[in-house]
Amino acid sequence: MSGVFIAFEGGEGAGKSTQARLLVSHLSALGYHAVPVREPGSTELGNYLREYLVSDRPVTILAELLMFEASRAELISEQVRPHLSEGAIVVADRFAGSTIAYQGYGRGIELDQIRWLNDFATGELYPDLTILLNIDPLVGLERVNSRQLQLALPIGDTPDRFEEEILSFHDDVRRGFLKQAESDPDHWHIVDGHRSISQVSAVVRAVTEPLVMSKNMAGSVS
Ligand code: TMP
Repeated sequence: MSGVFIAFEGGEGAGKSTQARLLVSHLSALGYHAVPVREPGSTELGNYLREYLVSDRPVTILAELLMFEASRAELISEQVRPHLSEGAIVVADRFAGSTIAYQGYGRGIELDQIRWLNDFATGELYPDLTILLNIDPLVGLERVNSRQLQLALPIGDTPDRFEEEILSFHDDVRRGFLKQAESDPDHWHIVDGHRSISQVSAVVRAVTEPLVMSKNMAGSVS
C-alpha cells in the first residue's frame, strides 16, 4: 500500500471528528489527496448500520459487535484499500480500536475474539498511526450535552445508545483505549483531549507530518 492510513480514536466528546476534519483540510492545503472516512459509515451499508447502531433500538451485544465489524469490512474493501492503493492519505474517525474499547472493555466481550474479528474484517490492514484523544468521560459527555443543547436537537434524538451508558462504562472504554495505546507505542500516539482545539491540532500536525512526508511523497501534487 503506497498511501498513509491515520485514525483518530477516543471516547464521547473527545474531539475526534473535529480533529479529523482539520487534519484533512490541512493535508489537502499542502497538496495531498486526503480522504476522510468514519466508522461506522462512509459506505452505503455502513451508513445504514450506523443509523441503527446509534439509535436506542434493541440489539444484543454480539449482534452489535458483528454490525460494527460488517461496517468495517465494507469500509475496508470499498474505501480504505482502494484509496491507499492510489497513494492517498486516509483519515478515519474511529476504527478497530473502538471495538476493542467499547465492545471489549465496555461490554465485556472477550478481547481475543474481537481481535480475531478485527483481523478478519480488515484483512489485517491497520492504521500506520492512531491518535488517541484522551479525555475524562465527564468532560467529554458534558461537551456532547452542550453541543446537543446548542444544536437544539429534538428530545428523543438524544442521547444515543452509547452516550446514555453509565459513567463506569465510559471509564472502562477510556481504559481500553489507553491500554491499546500504551501497549503499541509505535502505532499509537496519545494526545491530551482536554486541551483547546488549536493546541490539539498543532500536536496532530506535528505527529502526522513526518509520517506523511516519509511515506507519501508520491501522493503530493505540490
Ligand atoms: P461517533 O463516531 O459519532 O462517536 O458514534 C459512534 C458510536 O459507536 C460511538 O458511541 C462509539 C460506538 N462504536 C462502538 O461501540 N464500537 C465501534 O467499533 C465503533 C467504530 C463505534
